Amino acid sequence: MRKPFVAGNWKLNKNAAEAVALVNGLLPGLSALESIDRVVCPPFTDLWAVKELLAGSGIGLGAQNMYWETSGAYTGEIAPGMLAEVCQYVILGHSERRQFFGETDETVNRKIKAALAVGLTPIVCIGESLEENQAGQTSEVVNRQVVQGLAGLTPEEGAKLVIAYEPIWAIGTGLAATPEDANAIHRDVVRAALGRMLGEETAASIRILYGGSVKPDNAVSFFSQSDIDGALVGGASLKVDSFLAIAQAAA
Ligand code: 13P
Repeated sequence: MRKPFVAGNWKLNKNAAEAVALVNGLLPGLSALESIDRVVCPPFTDLWAVKELLAGSGIGLGAQNMYWETSGAYTGEIAPGMLAEVCQYVILGHSERRQFFGETDETVNRKIKAALAVGLTPIVCIGESLEENQAGQTSEVVNRQVVQGLAGLTPEEGAKLVIAYEPIWAIGTGLAATPEDANAIHRDVVRAALGRMLGEETAASIRILYGGSVKPDNAVSFFSQSDIDGALVGGASLKVDSFLAIAQAAA
């Protein structure tokens, strides 16, 4: 009932020429996978070039961040409406934004509302640090990120979100969570919190992705879990073969 969703977060990688080459490589295989939602999220400066390549392919396009204001004296920022002209999705609250750029549950909340207001689909990232994990605080941290990040959303708004659980210690380390542990967080913490906030029916409809060292050789083990509805892929999304293999595993 939840359509699988696989997104590539390119982070700070691929100039325009490299982006075009990667997307051209992905197009034939990825466009054929109509049973899943598949999305690429390049850097801002690649978005228009990639949008043209993706036209008619069924592949979605997303940005990696945005500001919540619509215009004004905010040097260096990008407005929601500017993104809505070029893409359908925006990653919000990635742990690298929280860690290096001061984002908090409160700023993530403002960004989610601003994205929804212009019709963008937020891919909202949550996840605990290594220290929090080792201190046994995973459930508490993840629950707080959902409760505060999604505060004030109506069930109709909440239903439009995609959530990505990315334990920070698993990102870029090759040390993925076990599929069983990740599934337990998805089901017992994230979907449970969504249910209390938005109602059981809405919570049951929201895709919850896993992210953190997803690779072709572990993708199936994640996707076969009851409450893992896809993946947010970093490093393995930068190569045609590995991203296609992960998307095929989801399909
Ligand atoms: P890796 O797949 O490189 O671990 O990155 C995960 C991630 O942060 C996706 O947003």
